[in-house]
Amino acid sequence: MITHKRLTIGLFGFGVVGEGIYQVLQQTPSLNASIKKVCIKHPEKKRNADAGLFTTNYDEILNDPEINLIVELIDDADEAYKIVTTSLKNKKSVVSANKKMIAEHLAELVGLQQEHDVSFLYEAAVCGSIPIIRNLEEYYDNDLLQSISGIVNGSTNYILTKIGEGLSYKESLLQAQQLGFAESNPKLDVEGFDAVNKLTILLAHAYGVVSKPEDHVRIGITRLQQSDASYAKEKNFEIKLTAQTIKLSNGKVAGFVLPQFVTRDSQLYNVKNEYNGVIIESKLADKQFLYGKGAGRFPTSSAVISDISALTYDYRYEYKKISRHEQYVLTNAYFLRVYVSFNDWAEVNRWDFEQVFEFHSTDERQYITGLIQVDKLRNAKWFNDSSVSIILLPEAVVENEAVVGQTLKKASLQLAGVN
Ligand SMILES: NC(=O)c1ccc[n+]([C@@H]2O[C@H](COP(=O)([O-])OP(=O)(O)OC[C@H]3O[C@@H](n4cnc5c(N)ncnc54)[C@H](OP(=O)(O)O)[C@@H]3O)[C@@H](O)[C@H]2O)c1
Repeated sequence: MITHKRLTIGLFGFGVVGEGIYQVLQQTPSLNASIKKVCIKHPEKKRNADAGLFTTNYDEILNDPEINLIVELIDDADEAYKIVTTSLKNKKSVVSANKKMIAEHLAELVGLQQEHDVSFLYEAAVCGSIPIIRNLEEYYDNDLLQSISGIVNGSTNYILTKIGEGLSYKESLLQAQQLGFAESNPKLDVEGFDAVNKLTILLAHAYGVVSKPEDHVRIGITRLQQSDASYAKEKNFEIKLTAQTIKLSNGKVAGFVLPQFVTRDSQLYNVKNEYNGVIIESKLADKQFLYGKGAGRFPTSSAVISDISALTYDYRYEYKKISRHEQYVLTNAYFLRVYVSFNDWAEVNRWDFEQVFEFHSTDERQYITGLIQVDKLRNAKWFNDSSVSIILLPEAVVENEAVVGQTLKKASLQLAGVN
């Protein structure tokens, strides 16, 4: 018979998620877990809980021998790093939702768990309520896993949905913030940093690839133009910010975060508002789709509570794929099918493209669609130009072997009438 351990929790943070956890635990006595102390930053704030519960002193929690679980739910990644690493070194189990901190320090955090024989769970850090990490960790063997493609950021998806309904970018962002979907620093969401942090975590559990967020190609949603939305409408596409990782036929792994035109037949097409959706493709099962709320108090709390519950029976990530004999590595040896829109031809070098499919020119805005090597894209001068909008076409990844050489490139450029 499994005996469930009693958990005495030291909670850091009493904001959107932290207060949610407090409320849920109060209503779930069967969980065998209770909060002993809550550390917050601003003691003057009015709280919906007994004043004696709160402290601003980390040590009151970290040095309390009775507290055997730290639940870290603050919005400051640097302070979260201190809290989490100190706790693990003190052999206290930790649950966190801080994807920025986890992605930036993944290698060290994996090492600390092994060195101190202690558990660190973070299901809420990726896709809120969707149980993706434990699924990848336990169910999908990496030999079978072909790709993951997902909408992993609720607030950008909310903003894109509202823009599609006619609201301005500013109004949509404000709504996302008021509803508690957006990070305190919205740049993390709209520039794609949050999504690339989640991609970094997914890569470790999907393929055992331990990387840094900056290793991956990343573009957010701030550059999208009205003309891009019109192009999408004309072609019956939805624009979604996607995080993707794909195992190529050379056995290496591609990973990136970019806006993408999504077709009606993709499960991601109908993922709207703060919802997240992840398509997992594996060799035998083909495509499977996980869908759910990616942000907000109770959806995020549901993943945190699931981790707390798992710790009552001492669950831990084994990181089996990281310690595999044959390790997967990241590659940039692939091409992407992209749509690029810009104000002036001087902004974009058309010769960066391997093939051009079409181009279109109006007085206000031009666009080109074509095939580009991913390093060429990343190193192009126009990659970081805020007036250039870059969106993936559907079925965006093309493997090196599939790309025919120079002759076709020249021919396609000539066909498109580009000099
Ligand atoms: N909100 C979501 O939907 C969501 C979804 C998934 C993951 N997450 C992650 O969950 C974490 C918490 O997010 P949130 O939305 O709940 O944040 P939040 O509403 O902004 O609350 C942050 C809390 O952290 C406390 N805090 C900040 N710095 C602190 C410090 N140095 N020491 C002690 N307490 C400190 C704040 O204290 P005061 O109350 O005193 O200001 C506040 O209670 C973040 O890592 C976020 O990325 C959030």
